Amino acid sequence: MKEVKIESTLFVFESLKETPEAIQKLMHKAIEARDNAYAPYSRFHVGTALLLDNGEIISGSNQENASYPSGLCAERTAIFYAGAKYPKAKVLKMAISAASQNQKTDKPIPPCGACRQSIAEYEIKQEKPIEIYFMGETGSVMKSSSLANLLPFSFDASNL
Ligand code: THU
Repeated sequence: MKEVKIESTLFVFESLKETPEAIQKLMHKAIEARDNAYAPYSRFHVGTALLLDNGEIISGSNQENASYPSGLCAERTAIFYAGAKYPKAKVLKMAISAASQNQKTDKPIPPCGACRQSIAEYEIKQEKPIEIYFMGETGSVMKSSSLANLLPFSFDASNL
């Protein structure tokens, strides 16, 4: 038997103001999108904005359903729409912001496991890493230089 270690590196910016201007702009689009969340059940609003290599910005928010599992997270709403509308475009950057209606969310909120799996599919398809920035309503911003850092040892088409 041998041990296999998997390491990931993430970066932390103390506030949005510390991030590059282009990221601040993208995060503001995510925050705008967050306001369009339909989340009457969880009261947890998430917004995502994607910058594509054709210059387009695609945004999305979580859309819930009375039949809970039928709802969809903001990240997948956005990336599926980008894939549907611009199938040839590559996703360069992704910004995510989450805000709870119940309490202040001041810690970075990472994408859930199902969203990581979905984003991984696009990262592999486009053969280019997607830079991911995520935050709460306020506070620090975390950066992952690629989805692979958030989902190491993932299941993909090569396993089929
Ligand atoms: N949610 C997202 O939109 N993205 C995530 O990565 C985590 C969770 C949504 C789903 C649901 O509408 C609400 O947040 C609470 O889980």
